[in-house]
Amino acid sequence: MARILVTGGAGYIGSVTRYALEMRGHEPVVVDNLSRGYRESVPSGLLHVLDTRDKGALVKLLKEQRVDAVIHFAAYIAVGESTKRPEVYFENNVSGSISLFEAMVEAGVKYLVFSSTAAAYGTPQRVPIAETEPLAPINPYGESKVMVEKVLQWLDRYRDFRSICLRYFNACGAEPEAGLGERHDPETHLIPLILQAVVTGKPVTIFGDDYDTPDGTCIRDYIHVSDLAHSHILAIESLLAGGESNVFNVGTGEGHSVKEVIAAVERVTGKKVPFTLGPRREGDPPRLVADPTRLKEKLGWKPERADLDRIVSDAWKFASAAPS
Ligand code: UFG
Repeated sequence: MARILVTGGAGYIGSVTRYALEMRGHEPVVVDNLSRGYRESVPSGLLHVLDTRDKGALVKLLKEQRVDAVIHFAAYIAVGESTKRPEVYFENNVSGSISLFEAMVEAGVKYLVFSSTAAAYGTPQRVPIAETEPLAPINPYGESKVMVEKVLQWLDRYRDFRSICLRYFNACGAEPEAGLGERHDPETHLIPLILQAVVTGKPVTIFGDDYDTPDGTCIRDYIHVSDLAHSHILAIESLLAGGESNVFNVGTGEGHSVKEVIAAVERVTGKKVPFTLGPRREGDPPRLVADPTRLKEKLGWKPERADLDRIVSDAWKFASAAPS
């Protein structure tokens, strides 16, 4: 059992990971500035409303709460927004992370799991993508994550600071029994948008059907948020047990096209999905699928909810129960 600080713990993946830590018997402490997260996603008493750029407050919290390790989610995540306001992304994602690492060094906490992204690879040369694929982000969001990964490499070398970077593919699904799921404002992610289309009758737009894929639509590796949360637990436990710093892809290794996701939503909800065909979205590679071999071999991770219908069904249960 360990005391684990979860930054961004009021957000989507952060809140599900906080829940998974509790189920595993750990003691999470949550930090979130609530700029994008939801207060009600954190049990009262666990939440400390502060910004990762407030180094003094973090040092105090890490010491007072006797934190053993940190899982760092707090960041802006919208690719499109990052191309419009790059400086805001670097300030929040990079400066916020460095402030947290400084606070950890000062407080003597030296284990960190970092929320990174498949966007670090940009448009990959080889798919499925292994961790050895060159890092070549094509937007400021991806670059901000790569910059933090690089800072962590140097901290490992010169500060005896151990970290695991998890490069997520497409996080989706929900933990409906715990009332936790995906709620972005504005929503840009495929599955919640398709579910909204089912509810409102307003069509979702398919961004391009002329890709070099079997049905012409983009292929992504959709990873259930609970399987993703579990990878953080294995990572933090490995560090606490003396394991080395590392970088892992977190994806199922299976790809699904946009049209396949729409078909899954129709199966699960029993309703027709209204959709229109639109042009390609800038910066969308045709196919992003993880090679998760390293994570399976080194940390013993295995996705338990990889089935697309299970993912959609959990997202649908959460969306159906949510007040909005
Ligand atoms: N899509 C549509 N219509 C929509 C929204 C999405 O057709 O209205 C398509 C996209 O073109 C893409 C797929 O659905 O092919 C998934 O799109 P999302 O926006 O849900 O997710 P992305 O693959 O663009 O982004 C995800 C994460 C990012 C991360 C990126 C790279 O959300 O944080 O993967 O791995 F940077």
